[in-house]
Amino acid sequence: MKTTSDYRDIQIGSATLRDIPEIQSLLKVEVDSGNILFRSNDEVATNIRSYLIAKDGKRIIGCVALHIYSVELAEFRSMMVQEDYRDRGIGKRLIKDGIERAKHLGLNTILVLTYKREFFHKLGFREISKIDIPNSKIWADCIKCNHFPVCEEIAMVTDIHI
Ligand SMILES: CC(C)(COP(=O)(O)OP(=O)(O)OC[C@H]1O[C@@H](n2cnc3c(N)ncnc32)[C@H](O)[C@@H]1OP(=O)(O)O)[C@@H](O)C(=O)NCCC(=O)NCCS
Repeated sequence: MKTTSDYRDIQIGSATLRDIPEIQSLLKVEVDSGNILFRSNDEVATNIRSYLIAKDGKRIIGCVALHIYSVELAEFRSMMVQEDYRDRGIGKRLIKDGIERAKHLGLNTILVLTYKREFFHKLGFREISKIDIPNSKIWADCIKCNHFPVCEEIAMVTDIHI
């Protein structure tokens, strides 16, 4: 059994194409429950540079993708920490590293659509009206979702300060 100090060894880094099968099997439980949108291997591959992964040794136990929509806007999506690794600060580290990456890239704003208001609020996100979600997001992603158009996720954003 792991102690709290063991979780400091979790490494956050960039994903590679070789990580795709493991990312897909990590996300499967949340995809099956309708919490995270399914993406094909090819879609993940096209966007592989946006994925950050958390690893315990060689095993992937968390991930998030910082998907860029425009010169100003990106979205955190496909965010998950494996159940037995939750509440150890790993999700927070993934988001903080993603925000650092967004800063480096010169983005202004990161959007997230989520049921986890408290988690993102603690990381500096604020709720916005869904009317303000960019059309590109609605037509690229939401339209594919089983919950569309009656979606109970909330939209939250954070501004990137350089
Ligand atoms: C949401 C999720 C990624 C959080 O990961 P995690 O590693 O457990 O989160 P952390 O341990 O880094 O938590 C950071 C802070 O948020 C809080 N937090 C985490 N999950 C929370 C929740 N569901 N509700 C309220 N607060 C929460 C923690 O208590 C912690 O607070 P603290 O900084 O005051 O100690 C994880 O629960 C998960 O994978 N859920 C299923 C998939 C999902 O919902 N993804 C989000 C889609 S947008």
